[in-house]
Amino acid sequence: MRAHPLRASVPILVLIAACGGSRRDADATIEVPAAGLTPLPPAAAVDGVDFATGERCAACHGAAGGVIRDRAGRDVSPVTAYATSMMNWSARDPYWLAVWSGERAAHAAGAAVVDDLCTRCHAPMGARELTRGGAVIDFATVTADPGVAGQLAREGVGCTACHQIAAAGLGTPATYDGQFTTTSGRQLAGPHAQPFPMPMRRHVGYTPVEGAHVTQSELCASCHTVITRPLDTAGQPIGPEVNEQTTYLEWRASGLARAGVSCQACHAPTTDVDGAPIVAKLSPMPPWLEPRAPIGRHTFLGANAYMLALLADNQAWTGSAVTPATLRAGVDAASAMGRAAATLTIADAAVGGGRLRAAVRVTNLSGHKLPTGYPGRRMWLHIRALDATGAVVFESGGVDAAGHLVDATGARLDPGDVVLPHRDRVAGAAEVALWEAVQVGRTGAPTHALLEAWGMGKDDRLLPRGWDPTAPDAARTIPIGVADDADFAPGSDVVHLDVAAPGAVRLEVDLAFQSVPPAAIEAVAALRTPAAATFAAMTARRSPTPIVLAQAHAAL
Ligand code: HEC
Ligand code: HEC
Ligand code: HEC
Ligand code: HEC
Ligand code: HEC
Repeated sequence: MRAHPLRASVPILVLIAACGGSRRDADATIEVPAAGLTPLPPAAAVDGVDFATGERCAACHGAAGGVIRDRAGRDVSPVTAYATSMMNWSARDPYWLAVWSGERAAHAAGAAVVDDLCTRCHAPMGARELTRGGAVIDFATVTADPGVAGQLAREGVGCTACHQIAAAGLGTPATYDGQFTTTSGRQLAGPHAQPFPMPMRRHVGYTPVEGAHVTQSELCASCHTVITRPLDTAGQPIGPEVNEQTTYLEWRASGLARAGVSCQACHAPTTDVDGAPIVAKLSPMPPWLEPRAPIGRHTFLGANAYMLALLADNQAWTGSAVTPATLRAGVDAASAMGRAAATLTIADAAVGGGRLRAAVRVTNLSGHKLPTGYPGRRMWLHIRALDATGAVVFESGGVDAAGHLVDATGARLDPGDVVLPHRDRVAGAAEVALWEAVQVGRTGAPTHALLEAWGMGKDDRLLPRGWDPTAPDAARTIPIGVADDADFAPGSDVVHLDVAAPGAVRLEVDLAFQSVPPAAIEAVAALRTPAAATFAAMTARRSPTPIVLAQAHAAL
């Protein structure tokens, strides 16, 4: 195996002192590779013209407010719950910074185009605050500016971004790609009728207003529909539209949309962890405020547990006030979200004539494709057959310590330049049933550079339940590369196992998921930017070990 290019570099230890107003952990150390990006500035509460940081909301809508609690007294406030959503980290995300820096380098004469594109959804508050003053955001603002624009940018998708999104045009192409409009005059929309405005006007200068669109999937559509085009070095489009991320369109073509199950129903649940509806006051002041219901827990989790773990490892580097312990709790919560995404069942399993045969069905319980979102997310079956002594007699879908897919001899199956085929049938240890979307460049070779992509070489991700090929824009979510698989259907896929087996076995199947595959880490490590060096150093210290979404077994 190739040595990691940065593993040999000597880390410079930057010791953060407990004094000087730094809100970082007193004992925290930050390892910065020699060629890396300096740590992000410490977070500070700021208030801009339109946007403010979330800490400004904590006194009433956080743990300190003490009133947004469930029946058992647990804190279910927006500020607490949102701490571990990747949206709260979308601009401190070292993976995003690294890929953005690579796109800037590849399109150097069009860096302003790239900066506008990459910050629209990941750093919308900082970008828009600068735009209204006639300036444009750039990489230095996001990574080094200690002032208002930098602080707002690093907050990522903040409270005051989501709650100021205007209803106009949501769910239509005009607002895709982060092109939503915001309301003016510091009005924050919420789901409840006649919110009492005085405390917010006095303390933060915002007015709460009722806005039905807040509870609809269209609120998410603008940023969760990413349609890009390949750019030349000057930032000019030179190729076709690429459906890079279509989570909203996948949902809209699904049976969940027709049944009225919104994004919020799963990602901001109005019930507590025991399933009981949440009823609570929204603020400790005024004291006579009536309780409200429903109230949505701002969990907004996906299954990117790996990135939350990287952030926990490097919390001091991120400058955030969220503690490593909170982030580690987020890792568990994201893993649990992953376990809510799918079921696995084994049918028609039999051993006979020296063969083991079984039909393994994966069912998608999420509201979109599985996996959805950023290209590269991948899911596969890790299949093992064990004999009576517990010895493994067959294995497919195993990984090595670096998270690479390997065959029975430990040889790597997934180098970055290979597109693994869709499989309806697994007949040998080198065959892996894997579902993913693979971006390809002009020549058809896989690419991890978003603005070099000319299309998808393969997209065999599981469709959501009730996916309708005649729905508007279903063409943007149509599977690619599954034509020969008769049982690839909306909501599920069946993999037929047919392998040599000596006798009675125990069949064990895991549904494994990796949000950041090793090939993506390697592609980033090859970029010659400080942010790429930082990401490479962080990932070298923690491999992208897959998480398990579902398990099934059968004794034969
Ligand atoms: C229209 C909104 C939008 C735009 C524009 C956008 N992104 Fe994203 N990006 C997202 C969303 C949403 C996700 C999360 C999807 C998921 O979790 O699967 C994401 C995820 C990512 C990730 C993965 C992060 C992780 O932790 O796994 C990277 C890297 C990334 N984006 C880079 C970029 C770059 C570089 C650009 C500019 C070329 C860009 N994005 C522009 C919305 C956007
Ligand atoms: C990604 C968009 C998004 C972000 C970011 C966001 N919210 Fe919300 N917020 C919502 C949605 C959706 C609801 C409605 C939930 C429901 O009741 O169904 C909501 C509701 C609320 C409510 C009313 C209580 C309720 O749940 O009905 C308050 C108060 C609130 N949010 C405050 C905040 C604060 C403070 C932050 C930052 C820590 C924040 N929000 C970040 C989307 C968002
Ligand atoms: C001093 C206390 C206080 C602070 C600070 C505060 N709010 Fe509020 N907020 C309230 C009160 C009171 C209401 C109205 C509650 C009601 O009528 O039940 C409210 C309502 C809301 C609602 C609308 C709820 C609905 O469904 O109509 C949103 C959204 C909201 N706040 C977001 C924020 C955000 C974001 C911040 C930080 C920038 C913030 N608030 C800061 C007290 C506060
Ligand atoms: C202003 C743009 C924006 C809006 C509006 C928005 N998102 Fe996001 N969302 C993002 C970005 C950017 C990321 C990726 C953060 C990252 O990984 O760096 C993301 C990530 C997520 C994730 C986490 C994925 C993971 O891998 O953990 C979920 C879940 C999510 N969004 C759900 C929603 C829902 C539901 C709504 C609507 C209520 C919504 N988002 C509205 C920009 C947005
Ligand atoms: C029926 C429940 C359900 C609905 C409805 C739903 N989701 Fe999800 N979502 C999930 C589950 C479960 C996961 C975790 C599995 C995964 O990451 O793919 C997830 C994951 C995600 C992710 C992260 C993908 C990643 O990279 O790990 C994003 C982003 C997301 N959802 C956005 C949305 C948006 C936007 C909508 C509405 C258009 C929506 N979801 C509707 C259940 C749902």
